Amino acid sequence: MFFTKYFSIAEMKAWSLDQRQKGKTIGFVPTMGALHEGHLSLVRIARQHSDTVVVSIFVNPLQFAPHEDLDRYPKTLEKDVELLKKEGVAVVFIPKASEMYSPHFQTVVEVTELSKHLCGNSRPGHFRGVATVVLKLFQIVNPHIAIFGDKDFQQRLVIARLVKDLGLEIKILAGPIVREADGLAMSSRNQYLSLDERKRACVLYEALTKALTMFQSGERNSARIIMKVSEMIDKVSPTHVDYMKICDAETLEEVWSIQKKAILAVAVYFNKTRLIDNVILSHPERSEGSV
Ligand code: PAF
Repeated sequence: MFFTKYFSIAEMKAWSLDQRQKGKTIGFVPTMGALHEGHLSLVRIARQHSDTVVVSIFVNPLQFAPHEDLDRYPKTLEKDVELLKKEGVAVVFIPKASEMYSPHFQTVVEVTELSKHLCGNSRPGHFRGVATVVLKLFQIVNPHIAIFGDKDFQQRLVIARLVKDLGLEIKILAGPIVREADGLAMSSRNQYLSLDERKRACVLYEALTKALTMFQSGERNSARIIMKVSEMIDKVSPTHVDYMKICDAETLEEVWSIQKKAILAVAVYFNKTRLIDNVILSHPERSEGSV
């Protein structure tokens, strides 16, 4: 069973209800398309944990600021659908922007604290847009589980908080970061990089790996780790370093001394392309299996 036809919101809801009535569990992977191995790894996790899988493809205007890359966001719809078909996905849900957001649309949802830090600080309103669309998609697809990748670690925390705070009966699962052979985290935005930028961009992984090694050798001082990471990244002359921070992995508050599970998160521009990456810094015995 595979649907490529455009389900309206009403049809998608009816399909999910029918599956539930048949006793099937629904796994859900929301995406903005331009799919790569990272997305497909989330689909595989969804398949392992549910009877049937829905993937949405929707480039959500609400999470882009006016100067961001909404208009040039890569679109590879036919290829995406083919890939999802091969992965055994039951429905590719491709809602129309006009159906998702009527001209009178004015309701948003915001996860106030977690959205303030890291990407939220440099992209005001971004997580409000993400939380709003994901909540809408959850209402439509009505999944039992939903999978979010850890490259967007903050996004996963925001969604997990939203689910808890609103009492939604959806289990949020994390997918580990999937990397290219040279370590660059897979992202739909990697295709914006020129050949030269692409080569330089793998320094992000090298710097995060160095940070992890320092942490594993006993370094707990955030400033010293950040100094090393910054030195390595500066060497390849990115256009701009948006942030480079070590934060508590639950609250995302910045920490100066790493005493519990933390995340080192970076956002760097190569020209107009903004890349994000992260590594978890935690004691192996306390690790929750991320990165
Ligand atoms: O991670 C993404 O691709 C998007 O932020 C999401 C979760 C599909 C919401 O638009």
